[in-house]
Amino acid sequence: MAVNLKGRSFLTLMDFTPEEIRYLLDLSHDLKAKKRAGIKGDLLQGKNVVLLFEKTSTRTRCAFEVGAMDEGAGVTFLDSKSSQMGKKESLEDTAKVLGRFYDGIEYRGYDQKVVEDLAKYAGVPVWNGLTDVDHPTQILADLLTIEEHVAKPLRQVKVVFVGDIRNNMAYAWMYGCAKMGMSFVAYGPAELADQVDADVVARARAVAEETGASIEISSDIESIKGADVLYTDIWASMGEEEQIPERVRMLTPFRVTKEMLDATGNEDVIFLHCLPSFHDFETTMAEGQQELGYDIREVTDEVFKSRHSKVFDEAENRMHTIKAVMVATMA
Ligand code: CP
Ligand code: NVA
Repeated sequence: MAVNLKGRSFLTLMDFTPEEIRYLLDLSHDLKAKKRAGIKGDLLQGKNVVLLFEKTSTRTRCAFEVGAMDEGAGVTFLDSKSSQMGKKESLEDTAKVLGRFYDGIEYRGYDQKVVEDLAKYAGVPVWNGLTDVDHPTQILADLLTIEEHVAKPLRQVKVVFVGDIRNNMAYAWMYGCAKMGMSFVAYGPAELADQVDADVVARARAVAEETGASIEISSDIESIKGADVLYTDIWASMGEEEQIPERVRMLTPFRVTKEMLDATGNEDVIFLHCLPSFHDFETTMAEGQQELGYDIREVTDEVFKSRHSKVFDEAENRMHTIKAVMVATMA
């Protein structure tokens, strides 16, 4: 049956079948080729979208803005300081009001329940632009990037996520690999293994049983052998900055280095990162922490700038994939 996602919210990849995810990836490839050919689109002509951000963003915000404008939609951006949401007006009322004005709503914040409640009350598609436990639009961009740079079907690809294995990216990857029948290893400190949400792992493994995927958690370097993709993320996610000293203690052995790339045994392994990344000391945060005695780099500059690194193709793909989600779901 033909895939039709009109009117659907995009809250987590767990809500989508492998065929539906395949459809979004194919649409992303098409929209990317269209933009590369310089063809101006009108697929979202007459639509308006609102972007709600309770956390900061560069890529996700700009991907929604450019993606919408490329296809003719109007865009409003609201951060937590400039709207009434949650302070003078309940989430339910806010969702009902915005649903009257807009054809789609993006939300980035903390609790997954907020994005679920927005979707419950808005009456229009709601898109998850990152919560504490998921980042589904990022995974779509990552899968597109893998298809462009790894000469294998997704179901033969092994992804290793290194570092804070209980963060939103680690969980989003478990879901993405489970759905697409891929091999996934969360490679991080043994002391973190117990903190990985057992419900997330159980749900991913239940899907994996149907798709042929594998979902593994390991602190053994042997587990990264044969990786096609080495993926990492910052060690302290947004809102967790006070935990930096503890994270540096725990995660320094898991910094992505040339030696770690070599340990995969795959000379064509690619390095991906959702970004932003600390790979040098050219940011106020990395420099400030260094002055306090903490080296917060989750990846070396050598790896970040190596031939293995596809991080800027990946960043560009946020725009093509988020555009595909809007085009596919807005009625
Ligand atoms: N990868 C990502 O979500 O980037 P931003 O935080 O800049 O949106
Ligand atoms: N884990 C990171 C992802 C940023 C895109 C965070 O939540 O800050």
